[in-house]
Amino acid sequence: MSKKIEGFSKLTKAEKINWVAETHGENPSAFKATLETYNHSNPEVQKIHDEFIENTLTNHYLPLGVAPNFLIDGKWYTIPMAIEESSVVAAASKAAKFWSTKGGFKTEVLGTEKVGQIHLNYYGPTEKLNRFFDENTSRFLNELSSTTESMERRGGGIQSVQLIDKTNALEGYYQIDLRFETADAMGANFINTCLETLAKSFTNAATLTFEADELPEVVMSILSNYVPNCLVRSSVSTPIEQLGVNQLDAQSYAKKFVRAVNIAREEPYRAVTHNKGIMNGVDAVIIATGNDFRAVEAGVHAYASRDGKYRSLSQAKIENDTLHFWLDIPLALGTVGGLTSLHPLVKRSLEILDKPSAKELMRIVAVAGLAQNFAAVNSLVTTGIQKGHMKMHLLNLLSALGANEHEKQIISKQFSEQTVTNSAVKEALTKLRDGH
Ligand code: MEV
Repeated sequence: MSKKIEGFSKLTKAEKINWVAETHGENPSAFKATLETYNHSNPEVQKIHDEFIENTLTNHYLPLGVAPNFLIDGKWYTIPMAIEESSVVAAASKAAKFWSTKGGFKTEVLGTEKVGQIHLNYYGPTEKLNRFFDENTSRFLNELSSTTESMERRGGGIQSVQLIDKTNALEGYYQIDLRFETADAMGANFINTCLETLAKSFTNAATLTFEADELPEVVMSILSNYVPNCLVRSSVSTPIEQLGVNQLDAQSYAKKFVRAVNIAREEPYRAVTHNKGIMNGVDAVIIATGNDFRAVEAGVHAYASRDGKYRSLSQAKIENDTLHFWLDIPLALGTVGGLTSLHPLVKRSLEILDKPSAKELMRIVAVAGLAQNFAAVNSLVTTGIQKGHMKMHLLNLLSALGANEHEKQIISKQFSEQTVTNSAVKEALTKLRDGH
């Protein structure tokens, strides 16, 4: 079959599956059987998933787990996490338990401001554009009132509108910068609708004011996923003597821990991996709660390099014999709208969190990131990462090698005291099967 196809989107779901299986499947009927296995048996549930995107063939599963025993600002949470990487949920649970005996996690929402921009071309005199903008701003906002009304009722809306001269960066480049509060919604649709409506009003009014050769032109209108003022801090602290850690004495451990974080503050190669560890926790909760992890990832990494150098998002210090460890992270999240009211598991995840507000979810996610970061750095400066990692990975390795449950049990026991490597596991399985 040709690998090129016209009108694919117009085919029925069965026809699409058929085409993909026949064109790309090594064994088309086995291929179709796999897709069918992951298709939900209840057509109503499947329909919900089919309609999220275009050209749906089946569902792509991620495990949904929970990390219990998180004490955050004095309240107990069980945190839902959707992630495929072994050891992330176990590490979160371990960190939760560790810090719960030391006062738990503290959080603070430092801001909830979102940003949207209308990007303009304009090559006439700046004062003329400024005057036009000042004279028309209230009219633009009036024309937006039906769009902003319901958001204002929920405590959100447009906070400021400003024309910015960016001609130093790019000839003829101006920007209308809008700041928003979006209450419990992530707000992407609200912000983009506001921007496009305002852009239309702007163009209509400009056509009546400017000569054709000076007419400002709207290039594009879109929210920004860079949200440095939609920021939350999570933190933990403990007197060093209460650290009670394994091989190292508490003082040396605390110093080594802070040193590891400082290395990630200064060394971008380390900072990226350090932040990846934070995002293991952050993304898992964001996916479980139906938020947009691409938006968060993009904004977080821009924030990590806000002073021109890519740095760790977390920081640590020792002060008065106390270890302080904290994370500042920009998070634009929603607990209403989008997937939150559509995806049955997202609704359950929010239920596990006692139906949090967007602000509360920011706090929870920031804690998941800090907990994950603590678990990773703690392993790195003590046992190394592979011990715990490979132990969790052992079952994946055994599954990939086709081990049955009985074999998995025996080999897991065998490796409780032994380093897990691919070859060692393979050898152990072969020996077991050979009757050794
Ligand atoms: C692995 O997914 C994450 C770590 O590499 C994070 C880190 O190095 O801090 C363990």
